[in-house]
Amino acid sequence: MKIGVPKEIKTNENRVALTPIGAEVLRRNGHKIYVEKNAGVGSGFSDSDYKKVGATILNKPDAVFDVADMIMKVKEPIKPEYKRIKAGQTVFTYFHFASSRELTEAMMKSKCIAIAYETVQKSDGSLPLLIPMSEVAGRMAPQEGAKYLEKTMGGRGVLLGGVPGTQPANVVVLGGGIVGTNAAKIAAGFGARVTIMDNNLYRLRYLDDVMPKNIQTMMSNPFNIREAIKEADLVIGAVLIAGAKAPKLITKDMLKLMKPGSVVVDVSVDQGGCIETCKPTTHENPTYVVNDVVHYCVANMPGAVPFTSTIALTNATLPYAVEIANKGTMNALKSNEEIKLGLNMIDGIITYKGVADAFKFKYTPVDDVI
Ligand SMILES: NC(=O)c1ccc[n+]([C@@H]2O[C@H](COP(=O)([O-])OP(=O)(O)OC[C@H]3O[C@@H](n4cnc5c(N)ncnc54)[C@H](O)[C@@H]3O)[C@@H](O)[C@H]2O)c1
Repeated sequence: MKIGVPKEIKTNENRVALTPIGAEVLRRNGHKIYVEKNAGVGSGFSDSDYKKVGATILNKPDAVFDVADMIMKVKEPIKPEYKRIKAGQTVFTYFHFASSRELTEAMMKSKCIAIAYETVQKSDGSLPLLIPMSEVAGRMAPQEGAKYLEKTMGGRGVLLGGVPGTQPANVVVLGGGIVGTNAAKIAAGFGARVTIMDNNLYRLRYLDDVMPKNIQTMMSNPFNIREAIKEADLVIGAVLIAGAKAPKLITKDMLKLMKPGSVVVDVSVDQGGCIETCKPTTHENPTYVVNDVVHYCVANMPGAVPFTSTIALTNATLPYAVEIANKGTMNALKSNEEIKLGLNMIDGIITYKGVADAFKFKYTPVDDVI
């Protein structure tokens, strides 16, 4: 198969969909790799790194899209890319169709085979191509929180771990899933006193078993949240109700209970946020202040650490890409349930119910079309 890797053109997106190691693995499986000039530079990979493993570098994005049977990307296609995508071409990337009618209509019109990272799903319900980015965002959250707790950054002037003879900071993590667990672990590693709250008792039991001594677990309910945030220096929002908006666990009124100069990092902002006063921010302008509480609500946190994020993402995507390339897209869809669940659209037909429902388009079950 001919596999094309264009340079990402969304603002501030420095990740790339395939590392030179991934290119080598695909080439050894008999495939041809075409990488757009400078596609890997933002993640630390030069054109010559790709050339060394047998990939061809193409100067223009059009040439990459023209030649490829399968396009591998990171972010959803944006306007200048729509017309480059061809009928029958497999596009393997994050799409998040339900958040954009324009993108959905453009991809229907292209008649491409859209396999979305975010809906590839294992039999236990987990989403293997979303997990790595949650791990990155979770581990970043205490780092960002620690930064904005510094006085010069608008915070209280508290060191997360304290020093001997002083109190460490109190960190409250709302949600004990992938983001929350990673956030709690890093905050605890800094030496903070961490409370992790979830409304799933089984999850709390597990966390209580495996987490270090400076992390305590607490049932998530309005009473406990109110008590915990009064003492908190840093609150990290990490809840998710799959397919729904995040519940507002800290309301505008509750925010008034927090100490001046304390910080909230709402990672769940991409699902609307679990803190009522949160609205999405960007890496250029990541924070704002409400009621003396610093709010950090960047919706694409992993974009700030492309060297790590690219490798974390491609570690997870590569086995699927190899299978699609080796078997051919249609056979891979027929024989692998996880990849089949990733299929959102083929030949203009929507095969993922959530996407069809979002815009009241016709839904056709995958098995009817493959
Ligand atoms: N901002 C970013 O850059 C970025 C990056 C990655 C992920 N995210 C987002 O972070 C959020 C969390 O993702 P995840 O992978 O950890 O999800 P997850 O499903 O692994 O974990 C969510 C947890 O929230 C818990 N929960 C649900 N309702 C709750 C409540 N009322 N109180 C307390 N806990 C509750 C669940 O029991 C679960 O343990 C998602 O919205 C995800 O999209 C954002």
